[in-house]
Amino acid sequence: MKNILILNGPNLNLLGEREPGIYGTMTLAQLSSKLAAYAKKKKASLRARQSNSEGELIDILHAHRKWADGIVFNPGAYSHYSYALRDAVASIKVPTIEVHLSDIKKRESFRHTSVIAPVCAGQKYGKGLQSYVEAIDLLLK
Ligand code: DQA
Repeated sequence: MKNILILNGPNLNLLGEREPGIYGTMTLAQLSSKLAAYAKKKKASLRARQSNSEGELIDILHAHRKWADGIVFNPGAYSHYSYALRDAVASIKVPTIEVHLSDIKKRESFRHTSVIAPVCAGQKYGKGLQSYVEAIDLLLK
């Protein structure tokens, strides 16, 4: 049984009402329960956490470093500039897949770069819920 942490960053608590044209109408609770059902089917154990604060995201990563066999991380806008989150991912040595609901490569230029991706084991973006599902699959391979 593999343990997987799904970690969502800032503003993702507002999924469903936040810019639905970009992020869709699924709430974070709905997304999390679909992922929990998928993980159960794959015989993985899943924990889902969300925070709007950079420091709290770092604390959650640290706290799960012994429990998690893999992490699916949507750092939201922090992806584009947080060296502190990049260092946290590099520090814990748990394979981490960065995910995004939207296609960050086709949006504003500041979203094209992720400073966290280079320390991740992979990156999935632009597929909504499916980005997370494919990230789980990568971790379970
Ligand atoms: C996002 C993309 C980021 O650029 C943005 O700041 C978000 C959501 C996504 O899932 O598409 O908050 O991470």
